[in-house]
Amino acid sequence: MAFDFDMIQRVYDGFGERVEAARQVVGHPLTLSEKILYAHLTIGNAVKALNRGKDYVDFAPDRVAMQDATAQMALLQFMQAGRSKVAVPSTVHCDHLIQAEVGATQDLENANNKNREVYAFLSSVSDKYGIGFWKPGAGIIHQVVIENYAFPGGLMIGTDSHTPNAGGLGMIAIGVGGADACDVMAGLPWELKMPKLIGIKLVGKLSGWASAKDIILRVAGILTVKGGTGCIVEYFGEGADSLSATGKGTICNMGAEIGATTSIFAYDEKMGDYLRATNRADVAEAANAVRQHLRSDDEVYADPASYYDQVIEINLSELEPHINGPYTPDLAWPLSKFAQAVKENGWPEKLDVGLIGSCTNSSYEDMTRAASIARQAISKNLKTHSEYTVTPGSELVRFTTERDGLLDTFEKIGGVVLANACGPCIGQWARHIDDPTRQNSIITSFNRNFAKRNDGLATTHAFVASPELVTAMSIAGSLTFNPMTDKLTSESGEEVMLDEPEGIELPVNGFAVDDAGYQAPAEDGSGVQIVVSPTSDRLQLLESFKAWEGTDLLGLKLLIKAKGKCTTDHISMAGPWLKYRGHLDNISNNMLIGAVNFFNEKTNTVKNQLSGEFGEVPATQRAYKAAGIGSIVVGDENYGEGSSREHAAMEPRFLGVRAILVKSFARIHETNLKKQGMLALTFADPDDYDDIREDDTIDILGLTEFSPNGQLTIRLNHADGSSEEFQVNHTYNETQIEWFKAGSALNLIKQKQNA
Ligand code: F3S
Repeated sequence: MAFDFDMIQRVYDGFGERVEAARQVVGHPLTLSEKILYAHLTIGNAVKALNRGKDYVDFAPDRVAMQDATAQMALLQFMQAGRSKVAVPSTVHCDHLIQAEVGATQDLENANNKNREVYAFLSSVSDKYGIGFWKPGAGIIHQVVIENYAFPGGLMIGTDSHTPNAGGLGMIAIGVGGADACDVMAGLPWELKMPKLIGIKLVGKLSGWASAKDIILRVAGILTVKGGTGCIVEYFGEGADSLSATGKGTICNMGAEIGATTSIFAYDEKMGDYLRATNRADVAEAANAVRQHLRSDDEVYADPASYYDQVIEINLSELEPHINGPYTPDLAWPLSKFAQAVKENGWPEKLDVGLIGSCTNSSYEDMTRAASIARQAISKNLKTHSEYTVTPGSELVRFTTERDGLLDTFEKIGGVVLANACGPCIGQWARHIDDPTRQNSIITSFNRNFAKRNDGLATTHAFVASPELVTAMSIAGSLTFNPMTDKLTSESGEEVMLDEPEGIELPVNGFAVDDAGYQAPAEDGSGVQIVVSPTSDRLQLLESFKAWEGTDLLGLKLLIKAKGKCTTDHISMAGPWLKYRGHLDNISNNMLIGAVNFFNEKTNTVKNQLSGEFGEVPATQRAYKAAGIGSIVVGDENYGEGSSREHAAMEPRFLGVRAILVKSFARIHETNLKKQGMLALTFADPDDYDDIREDDTIDILGLTEFSPNGQLTIRLNHADGSSEEFQVNHTYNETQIEWFKAGSALNLIKQKQNA
C-alpha cells in the first residue's frame, strides 16, 4: 500500500559500507542494533565509536507513523515549520478515536459523526503535505505498519509508545512525541541518546498453551517497568528464529511496558515469509541480498556477554503461560500460581469481561489460536460465562478472518466484534456494567493495565494474557480457572477439558481485503485548503511559547508534589480527554488530575498558595498563570512513564509550569519536556524530595550558566522564613539548551528557517 520500495533499496544499497565503517571505528563485531543505528547516522559513515548510554546522536529515520490522537498536535506543529511536503515517507492512522460500544459497524458510524472535524483536518493536512492517510476503520497503527511499511534494517519513529511493534520485522522503531515527528517530517535530524543493549537469548521452543505473549510477560516480570529504560532489547537464539514475525511483533510491542527504547529481532526466514504473505516479495528479496547485515555478527551470538550490557536467557520449552496484573504489567504470574494469587489478594474471582485483539495481539496466528479454543466451546457444549470482545488489528486481518470463518466462531460463543481500532485498549469503551462501584475483574490480550486505562473505573482489576488464554478464561468466567489442569462443566453436565490451542501462522489461502481504507495524498498539495474553525473545541492552531527571559527563575510556587507512580495517563489522562488532543487550551483542563498529592494523598486536590484554598490542579495552575507567577511540579521515580504523548509536556508549559523536578524520568517524557522548552530536572540526592513542603516558593539558580555537564541549584523558601538549597541534575546537551532558551524546539526550527 504505497510502501516506498525505492527508499528501502536505497537504505540497503549503502548498508554494507556503513556497517563496515562502523566496525572499523568501533573495533569489534557489531550487534544488529548497532548496525542499524550506525547505518542511519545523518553524517553518513561513522567517524567515531558512540558511547552507549552517554552520547546524543543525530539519526535519519526512514519513516514516520502517527496515530490520530497524537497526529493532531504533531501536524499542528508541522504546519508551523513552513515546508510544502514531508521530508520522509509518513502516514496517519485513525485508530484511537473510535469508541467501542455495540459493535464495529455502529461504533464506526458514530465515530465518523463525532470526529468528523478531526478526521477532515487530518485527511486534508495529509493530502496537502504528502502523507499517507489510513481512514477510520482501516486498522490500528502498529498492525497496519507491520503489514505494509516495516522492513528489516529500517529505522522509523512513531507518535505512539508501541511503535516498537515493527521490531518483529527487524526494524528499529521507536515511540516519540509529536514534536520529534514534526522535526523528522521537517527534514531535521532526529536525536537519540545512544541506547544501551540488553540481549535476550531464547532457547528451546514454545509448545502447548505458551505463546509469544508469555515471553514478554515473563520478561516484564524479570526486568520490571523500569528495567529496559534507555536500552534496546535484542532477542536472539534458536527460540527467536522459531517465532512468527507477528509473534516477534507482540514481544517488541510490549517492550514499551519495560520502558525499553525499542526491541528487535534479527532478520530470518519467518520475516521473509511474512513479507511475502503481505505482498512484499521484493522487500524479502532485497533483504535476503544483504541478510548478513541484518543480523548481529556471529561473534556476538557466540559470546553475547561481551557485546550486550546485560544478557538474559529464557528457555521457551519450560516457559509457562503467564497472566500479569493487576494495575501494572510487570506483576507477572505463571499460570500455575495465578489462582492462588487471586485468592490471597482478594481480587474478584468472577471474570466480567475478556477482550482479545489490539495492536499487541491481533495477528492471523493470534486469531486462529483463540478461535481454536472458541471452537471447543461450541463442540463441547460450553457456555461462555464472561462478556467477550474481539478487536481485529486491521481491515486486512478482519476481512481475512471473516472469510476464514474465525469471526463467525467468536460470534457463536457470544463474542462481539469491535471496530479495527484501539477501543477499550485506550479507554474508548462505553462499558455496560451494572454497578461501576463494584470491584470487578477483566482480562485482555492488550499491553497496558494501569488503573482506569480500559474503562475509566478505579474498581476494575485488569490483567493481561495471550488471546487464547483470555478466550479460555472468558468461557470459564473465572479468574481462578487454569485450562491446563481444570475441568469445565458443559451445558449437558459433562466434565470436559479444553485442548491446547492450535494456530495457523499465515492464512493458507493468503491474506485478502476488499477496501483496506487507504487514501494516497495529492501529487501536488499546494491547492489543498486546511480549515480550522476559531470556535472549534476540538482543534486550535498553535501559538509559539515565549522564549526564556534570560534570568534565573525566582518565586515559583509548588503546584504539586506527586507521590508514587505518575504516568503520562496521570499527567494527561486519556479516555474522554482524547477528543481534545488537537486543542491545547481545552485539554489542559486534565493536567495532572490523576497524580496523587503527597501532602493529602488525594488526586486533583492541591493547595493554592495565593488563596490558601484547596482546588483542582488545572484551576490552581490557571490562577498562578493569571497572576503571572510560574510554578514547579515535583515527582517521584520514572515520572512520565507510559505513552509518548507530548500533551503531558505541552499542558504544563502552556499553563505556565516552568520546571518538572523528579527522582527519575521516563525517556520519552523527558525529551518531550525539553522540546517544549521546559526544565526537566532530577534530584542529585533523591532524599531532597523529602525536604519539599506544601507552602514552598522555589527558585531555580544557575540558568545563566546552563551547560551540558553542569548542575543547577534549587532554593526552597519555606513559609516559616527558613530556606535551604540543593543541587539538581539534568541531561540537556547544547542543542537542547538552545531549545530551552528559544522557548521550544519548534521556535528554534522557525528561527533557523527565517535566518
Ligand atoms: Fe491502540 Fe492500544 Fe495499541 S491504544 S495503538 S491498541 S496499545
